[in-house]
Amino acid sequence: MNIAASDLSEVDIKADIVVLPLFEAPQPEQYADVDDKIGGLISRVHTSKEFTGKENQLTLLHVQHTGAERILLVGMGKGPELTSERLRQAGGKAFSYIKKLGLRDIAVSSRSIARDLRNGYEARYENVMYFIEGGILATYRFEKYKKAENGGDIRRIAVLGNGISLPLKRLRIVASAVYLARDLVNTPSNDLTPGQMSESALNVAGRNVKVRVLNEKDIKREAMEAYLAVARGSGSLPRFIIMEYKGGRGAPVVLVGKSITFDSGGISIKAAEGMEKMKYDMAGGAAVLSVIKAISEMAVPLNVTGILPAAENMPGSVAFKPGDVVNSIGGKTIEIISTDAEGRLTLADAIGYAIKYYKPRAIVDIATLTGACSLALGNEAVAMMGTDIMLMELIKEASLETGERVWQMPLYDEYRDYLKSDIADIKNAGGRNGSLVTAASFLKEFAGETPWVHLDIAGTAWNEKEKPYITKGSTGVGVRLLIEFLDRLAGLRAPMDLRQKSDDFSAMACKGTAGQPRGK
Ligand code: BES
Ligand code: MN
Ligand code: ZN
Repeated sequence: MNIAASDLSEVDIKADIVVLPLFEAPQPEQYADVDDKIGGLISRVHTSKEFTGKENQLTLLHVQHTGAERILLVGMGKGPELTSERLRQAGGKAFSYIKKLGLRDIAVSSRSIARDLRNGYEARYENVMYFIEGGILATYRFEKYKKAENGGDIRRIAVLGNGISLPLKRLRIVASAVYLARDLVNTPSNDLTPGQMSESALNVAGRNVKVRVLNEKDIKREAMEAYLAVARGSGSLPRFIIMEYKGGRGAPVVLVGKSITFDSGGISIKAAEGMEKMKYDMAGGAAVLSVIKAISEMAVPLNVTGILPAAENMPGSVAFKPGDVVNSIGGKTIEIISTDAEGRLTLADAIGYAIKYYKPRAIVDIATLTGACSLALGNEAVAMMGTDIMLMELIKEASLETGERVWQMPLYDEYRDYLKSDIADIKNAGGRNGSLVTAASFLKEFAGETPWVHLDIAGTAWNEKEKPYITKGSTGVGVRLLIEFLDRLAGLRAPMDLRQKSDDFSAMACKGTAGQPRGK
């Protein structure tokens, strides 16, 4: 897909279709030149109220005397209420529609949306980026096993605007990282074993990324018994994947991604209904792999190591069993209550490995860890818990910037009591009550003093229903969030006033009218 800026006007550009985003109570006069050229069609559909500019409204015009034969009017809602999320959604709606028509060469007009209507029409070019990002993310399709009936891939996107310069390279890199994560997660477990996952990681290796893969023997030598126990019931052997990106100085940030290529539950086997979805239990690992690829292409000035403890959780004859006690790399013993609480066992050893060999500046793990995460937050937010407030603030900023919503949950010391074992240092499951937070409490035990954050994506990594720019099936959640987080950690963005952005996601940060902002 080719994305480039163009100085040509809406009437001169040659394309299959020109997209014109318009606000409610649109100012057709803003497009007077276009309207003149096409015989006043825009004013006409406006006067007849066929197109009012309401959010996500689409009206297709067939036109003459211009470089493109079609113009798509896209409703943006009320100008002063414009948010990054609304831009992504409108872009998503518009591009999906265009793809269904089978059109492949799109020009996007930037004049209306590249203005901040709250601030005296100041330039806001990033608005154009949000719109196109939503468009590209919406047109993803998983076609490994079946070609879609309509709509080929979009070939070209021209961004129209006189002399505007946009970080299109970053957009291209981030979008293709999301596509990669979605492809990996949508791929079923017979075609994405731990071995195949390690091959995908090796594809990312290059000048600034080193990839190492530990096999079963190596894992045994490292005494990662908890992780090994999970893998033991499957004929598909585990692969401990390490991706080292070198872009700066100092201790690395370690990203750990849960990489269970299929979670049957093991001996504590899951119910049959819906089990096919457990191929998505490696969505955390897919996100980490894709993030490493993206930041290496963007040369983010940080050292970042990705760790993917890949395994398949199966009830084979030598599988681990409830009641077993296993050791971990850090020396803590674990009593297995449920073999279905397998993710935390693999993460405990990955976190332990990171601490032992990297002395990381921070660890962030991302995992489809608990069904309780979906129960609590549904499909709408990632659950976040951790031991470091600064890291969590940066992740909240990244969340507001990317629209990948994150909600913090508590990590009270009392939750540790739920995991007391009579015969081992800790047990791997603490019952149904609080199982979202006790899972995090389990991981905290292994993170120790290292600044650490846990992101549970069990509710957000998979979509049953299509959203405006998040396709059905794998969502690629976490990729944009973590890239933005790392950019912020590297100091590539100014700190955000979380209250200023609160209107983007009123549920995320309540408006700070009652108290003074901190530090003032
Ligand atoms: N992979 C599952 C969590 C999950 C469930 C992700 C549904 C996505 C959708 C995880 O390994 C698991 O089975 N967790 C158990 C833990 C319990 C046994 C303590 C759970 O949440 O039920
Ligand atoms: Mn499980
Ligand atoms: Zn699992």
